[in-house]
Amino acid sequence: MTMKKILVTGGLGYIGSHTVVELQNSGFQVIIIDNLSNSSLDVLEGITNISKTPPAFERLDLRIKADVSDFFKRNKDIEGIIHFAASKAVGESVENPLLYYENNLNTLIYLLQECNACGIENFIFSSSCTVYGEPDSLPITEDAPVKAATSPYGNTKQISEEILKDTCSVSSLKSIALRYFNPIGAHKTAEIGELPAGVPQNLVPFITQTAAGIRKELSVFGDDYPTEDGSCIRDYIHVVDLAKAHVIALQRLLSANNETQFEVFNLGTGRGSSVLEVVNSFEKTTGQKLNYKIVARRPGDVISVYADTKKANKILGWKAEKTMEEALESAWKWERKIRNIS
Ligand code: NAD
Ligand code: WQD
Repeated sequence: MTMKKILVTGGLGYIGSHTVVELQNSGFQVIIIDNLSNSSLDVLEGITNISKTPPAFERLDLRIKADVSDFFKRNKDIEGIIHFAASKAVGESVENPLLYYENNLNTLIYLLQECNACGIENFIFSSSCTVYGEPDSLPITEDAPVKAATSPYGNTKQISEEILKDTCSVSSLKSIALRYFNPIGAHKTAEIGELPAGVPQNLVPFITQTAAGIRKELSVFGDDYPTEDGSCIRDYIHVVDLAKAHVIALQRLLSANNETQFEVFNLGTGRGSSVLEVVNSFEKTTGQKLNYKIVARRPGDVISVYADTKKANKILGWKAEKTMEEALESAWKWERKIRNIS
């Protein structure tokens, strides 16, 4: 039986690399496009070490339309695309909105134009819980209103979903937008994990870098929110659980089991955890004492968000299985490996 060939854009990045492993483990042939703007070639080795199969790789910048077009001329047999490639730092997007609109929207448009031209009908998109803003009620279901975006990054995710919906309505394209909550953790082998450039903006990489002695202390942004312990609440999901959902969503499209041409699913655990709970859980799981202090709230943070996962549970037949402890343990194992800490 011939293996179905899937293009994974941004496949050397954090979520993309874990998804490539799950795709290869599920019998798909993978070709990765990445411009290495937020990743490194070492990731290819990590993926290969886990799945014993080197994925095909092309270093290509998806902002260059002619290169995208040339790629599809040379690769006629692609049956589906999982599009991870994007810029993702919320603060940077406020400082440099055009970079974000160009990188997150042009790349999507060029890929969709090629889907139309080449007859590729299956497209999975990385969306985000950021589209919900500060929710009116919890847990958040997929039909909760999309709130005005608070950053250009968030806006690119909202616009991307609109672009996909509109394209699906006038073509044979089938697409699923997966709204991720907060992905954390690494592969249990520590062959791949998260590689934040510069000072981490996200909680868990900041925690592991602090424990590794790279950062002096973790700043906990606010303990005066209207939550049980005063810190913000998020839905932290293990990146491997998230990766597996992509394989299931792709299979749904490939076997034409989708109910509508454009579908949206929340990917979270359904459980909210506070910042202080994550800190305590990290200390307990790893035995590492964490240096932290409470500081002022971070502007723009929403108080509490966690997913209603019933739609993904029922319709995709997917459920997050890994625990917060497993995620934090794997994140710490990964940090130790890349810093050569025994
Ligand atoms: P990442 O930065 O680790 O991976 C993105 C990859 O895309 C990188 O390897 C980067 O080099 C590549 N890339 C970026 N622009 C490119 C271009 N023009 N051409 C080719 N390659 C390009 O990010 P991630 O955390 O793996 O996120 C993947 C996707 O999931 C993104 O779309 C992101 O917005 C979305 N998302 C991430 C999170 C999160 O917390 N990590 C949450 C919600 C949604
Ligand atoms: C989690 C919690 C912080 C760092 C961001 C994007 C969102 C999505 C996921 C892509 C918050 C607190 C953090 C620190 C802290 N990405 N924190 N000290 O803000 O939920 O979401 O990543 O789509 O769009 O906005 O994630 O990991 O930054 O923060 O106290 O040094 O940890 O205040 O409550 P966030 P995060």
